[in-house]
Amino acid sequence: MTVRPARLAGELTLPASKSVAQRALIATALTGRRFEKNAPVFRIDYPGADVISIAHAMAALGSLEIEQATDDVLIVRALGTPTDLGSPEAPLVLDCGNSGTGMRLLMGALAGLLADRPGAVTLTGDASLSARPMERVAFPLRRMGARIETAAGHAPLTVTGPAPLAPIDIALPVPSAQILTALCLAALATDGTTTIDLPGPSRDHTERFLAHCGVDISRSGETTTSTTITGPANLELRSLDVPGDESSAAFWLAAAALHPDAEITMRDVGLNPTRTAFLTALHDMGATIEIRPDAATGPEPTGTLIARSGAPLRPIVIEGLRSADLIDELPILAVVMAGTPGTSTVRDAAELRVKESDRITLTCEMLRAAGIDVIEHDDGFTITGSDHRYLETSGEVMRVRTDGDHRIAMAAAILEVTGVAPRPIVADDEACAAVSYPRFFDDLAALSGPRPAPAR
Ligand code: S3P
Repeated sequence: MTVRPARLAGELTLPASKSVAQRALIATALTGRRFEKNAPVFRIDYPGADVISIAHAMAALGSLEIEQATDDVLIVRALGTPTDLGSPEAPLVLDCGNSGTGMRLLMGALAGLLADRPGAVTLTGDASLSARPMERVAFPLRRMGARIETAAGHAPLTVTGPAPLAPIDIALPVPSAQILTALCLAALATDGTTTIDLPGPSRDHTERFLAHCGVDISRSGETTTSTTITGPANLELRSLDVPGDESSAAFWLAAAALHPDAEITMRDVGLNPTRTAFLTALHDMGATIEIRPDAATGPEPTGTLIARSGAPLRPIVIEGLRSADLIDELPILAVVMAGTPGTSTVRDAAELRVKESDRITLTCEMLRAAGIDVIEHDDGFTITGSDHRYLETSGEVMRVRTDGDHRIAMAAAILEVTGVAPRPIVADDEACAAVSYPRFFDDLAALSGPRPAPAR
């Protein structure tokens, strides 16, 4: 028997943006100098495991020193351009853990570092990361001149130098900020202007961050975009406040929209306009979210979000470019759809199948296990939801398969705690939430307060 908490209420500090923090850490290698004195220090509050993995990889590369690495804070001192980049006989091996973003960004950064230097660096990752496609980044980097070998399109992969790079003009087939960023980091080592066109929406943290570090980079277009970057350029590392992660905020926005009695406040949340698609989707479904923007202090806008329960929800159809804009939030959006009366659909989201897990299959399995009506499509799902909220659930506890995917584990927890699921459910691996949000279950407990005793 599980009993839904009577109220979800409180104030939270979210983990640091995974996207922004990893860009900042990788940038420590791209300064074009070694720091002896006055080395810039980055402080990143509440880093997820991906961020810590990439900090360790950059420490192994010799571009930073870790002063503190806990769930609460990561403090690193930049050392600058690495001096030893391995050799083809003895490559330097960097472990990216579960971080697809880290591995893909590092491919571009290493191609740049190895443009005019001998060396060989091998990137490895865990089983989930080793199953993810890497040719989408290796292929355009090779067109710039990089030498990259993958294991049949996957990690482990090795970047070898010297391999001089030239600027390119390229139109990417997918709207991927990871590929765009890898190409931008490589373009820093070229002589000339690189132009990268994307066919749909993507986050612009790279443009903002590199411009903050003094690079000549700009983006035009709002949906389909064109980014130009001019090299050669070394980064001027500057301190940076890493905002709270927008995708982590999504779990609490969903929880408040679904729970019958909730008020959740989150401060210092990233409000980058390329990351607000989930706020817009919830707004379109009828949820009540107050947004209080902060005064601008750095390249990433931030603000306070206050999510309140009580508004009736209506179904939504997510398709076309909108799916790309919401790609990381679709598992938790599926949970909101399950708690919304009527039929909601996600299409054009086949990319979900090559994230940390096959998120289409696992999201559908999770909802089905919880007794919710869902149809799986090649590129999405159709969910028929209800606004019934179960105060208590009983019967056999359904274990949700996560395949170690943090977003599935957290989505399952929100499904359970909001009373949307008619049966008790639990993720088979709750610890994997730490990939992006180590304190997720502590925060959930704090919001839930003391649980009422089950009725006899
Ligand atoms: C990210 C970009 C997105 C996103 C990933 C982080 C980034 O991937 O899904 O979690 O930090 O650039 P794609 O760029 O492949 O769409």
